[in-house]
Amino acid sequence: MSIDTEAVDLALTTTRAVRKRLDLERPVDDQIILDCIDIAEQAPTGGNQTSRRWIVVRDPEIKQELARLYREVVGGFMLEARDRLEGTDHPRARTVSSSAYLVENLAEVPAIVIPTIVGRHDGSGAPGLFDSVIQSGWSFCVALRARGLGTAWTTAVLAKAPELKELLGIPEEITEIAMFPVAWTKGTDFRPARRDPARNITFFDGYGRTYESGPGTTVTMADGPGTMVETDIAAEIDEVWAAVTDIDLPAQFSDEFTGATWDEGFDGPALGAVFTGRNHLEVMGDWEVPCFVDVCDEPTAFGWCTSDPDNPGARWRFELQPLMGGGTRLIYRLLLGPGPSGLNMFIEQNPEKEPRIIANRLRVHRANMQAVLNGIKAHVEAGAS
Ligand SMILES: Cc1cc2nc3c(=O)[nH]c(=O)nc-3n(C[C@H](O)[C@H](O)[C@H](O)COP(=O)(O)O)c2cc1C
Repeated sequence: MSIDTEAVDLALTTTRAVRKRLDLERPVDDQIILDCIDIAEQAPTGGNQTSRRWIVVRDPEIKQELARLYREVVGGFMLEARDRLEGTDHPRARTVSSSAYLVENLAEVPAIVIPTIVGRHDGSGAPGLFDSVIQSGWSFCVALRARGLGTAWTTAVLAKAPELKELLGIPEEITEIAMFPVAWTKGTDFRPARRDPARNITFFDGYGRTYESGPGTTVTMADGPGTMVETDIAAEIDEVWAAVTDIDLPAQFSDEFTGATWDEGFDGPALGAVFTGRNHLEVMGDWEVPCFVDVCDEPTAFGWCTSDPDNPGARWRFELQPLMGGGTRLIYRLLLGPGPSGLNMFIEQNPEKEPRIIANRLRVHRANMQAVLNGIKAHVEAGAS
């Protein structure tokens, strides 16, 4: 039997967290939930020992109690955030509004399913417990989706584990993993979410090593090699934006970059703005690089390319992402090429050493980029406190 790849991929890419589109009126048959659990039980499990136990809650009074516990944990935060962000274009506004809806309607959902596993996580880092149940929980979600039902992976109620155990008579040696509100969905048309492309978050043969294509068995400039570093900053995104668009600031933290100045006619971040960066390395002495701002989406992305905007020697990118609990994730990315840079001279002299030259240069860049992020984090957090 051949697998319908398109159908599988569709299910895998469109199994969304459904809350507002849960149909609270249409009954859900027990059998369809059991069918989905049967499918979920096919997931891998450590030692081939199946230790998952599933609880399906139907009783309206128990659902009320679950809803009360859930509300106690996230209600205050979610409802307040919903009211604060409603009508704004804040990137979290939709998720928060959807989450708040679930807080207010959990008791009305036809079934609430709680996967559990026999055992207590001992925090030893030994493989086994959660690793033998998370994938099964996700299979359950996808199996629901394939049948026209939906759910949302929620964990907030687990903060009330003792109350949950008491309410459902769950033995002490069992660990609760998630809480799935299950219903038919209103419509079945769901779209893939916006996620980082694989190339941005996949590293080959070492953490932080990215490629725009390839890499082949030996790394060359044609593979588009690059690197990324990141840090979470306890400050609002606008404050981080102000720091990353202060083009001279990294000079305080980098061993190589010594400063930058906007070229005549430019005085701040804007698409097409040009600045000159100054650098110093023991082996190279001082040199200057013209930089052309080619990404400027306040407050989420700022970047520039060097030397020649049509055939850059390198592309530098800051990406800013607001974090759910407050704060900002700052990613700093470097892509070498596709045009020539100082590196090409060394490669032309020693073509057989191309992979090593690239790896060494990226290692130096990466250390400086991390130092810059650490510096920006300290700078912004000092200002933010
Ligand atoms: C570990 C984990 C815990 C979560 N806990 C909650 C929760 O308590 N309440 C909730 O409404 N959503 C929860 N979610 C759902 C996420 O908010 C959801 O994935 C997010 O809204 C993105 O939606 P999408 O999955 O449709 O892309 C959780 C998701 C995960 C993976």
